[in-house]
Amino acid sequence: MQKIPSSEITPEHLYLTRRQFVQLGGLAAGGALLSACGLADDGEGQAAQAGAVDETPRQDELGDPSTPFTEATNFNNFYEFSTDKVDVASLARDFKVRPWSVEVGGLVQRPKTYAVDELVKKYPVEERIYRLRCVEGWSMVIPWLGFPLARLLEEVEPLASARYVRFETLLDEEQMPGQRDDWYQWPYVEGLRLDEAMHDLTLLSTGLYGKPLLPQNGAPLRLVVPWKYGFKSIKSIVRIDLVEEMPVSLWMAAAPHEYGFYANVNPDVPHPRWSQSSERRIGELGRRKTLPFNGYAEEVGGLYRGMDLRANF
Ligand code: MTE
Repeated sequence: MQKIPSSEITPEHLYLTRRQFVQLGGLAAGGALLSACGLADDGEGQAAQAGAVDETPRQDELGDPSTPFTEATNFNNFYEFSTDKVDVASLARDFKVRPWSVEVGGLVQRPKTYAVDELVKKYPVEERIYRLRCVEGWSMVIPWLGFPLARLLEEVEPLASARYVRFETLLDEEQMPGQRDDWYQWPYVEGLRLDEAMHDLTLLSTGLYGKPLLPQNGAPLRLVVPWKYGFKSIKSIVRIDLVEEMPVSLWMAAAPHEYGFYANVNPDVPHPRWSQSSERRIGELGRRKTLPFNGYAEEVGGLYRGMDLRANF
């Protein structure tokens, strides 16, 4: 985001194949949904993922249609693999997502290491159709599968001194070639205030479109915080710690004047290098207005009452 500004402004026709572009045009004009079979199937990797893609057209609560599966799984930000969104899926294809464990600790009564399958079995998985707004100015609507992070935090019992939650992605340069780029401070780290983490909208996701997450989307476990810019939604999590001090995220360390801790979607606060007042919804022509808190102001506005949202960007 900071280092390769061209990635922010790649026009649609440069990253979509001609066939996809033609079909997306059809989508915008006629409202038809793409069939992921055929378009997204790039061979062994995707076929090897268990579970069928459920492409039933869905709408979010604003009536916006879900983004086609093929777009959500072939246009990805995952810098551990590549800074080029269209290369992530193929570079991540063989990423090992089992066995996988997540250590939950820090300022908690009952620290515990969970096998990811234990989490999937333990908490009822729900489908949540959320808008995802990237800080770069594009957005999607994704049907996630997952469970509220609050369920897991309640189980480990945060101590009274815990004020924030810190998340960490796997560190493994063998599998994640992007981590050899020492311009970034790996592993990818993100954080939430404890009340944000406990909010019902905050999801730990294990799947999308009715099937387990693909590596490019952050398998086997990622965070989804729909009212914040997409970079808060950290992928392939291996550690969750309750802490007293505000965590420093990878992006805060890389460019503190550009990326703050809160990162709430806010059309009134521009990024230092571009406006945040509008966005391009993947699959649509033209741009649409960006909504405060990405359209979730009613649910989460209260968390920030009295705060200066410009100073706390
Ligand atoms: N998590 C990790 N570990 N590494 C990343 O590079 N990119 C973030 C976020 N989570 C990123 C990450 C950004 S900038 C966005 S917009 C979303 O993932 C993109 O999620 P998607 O590829 O599933 O759409």
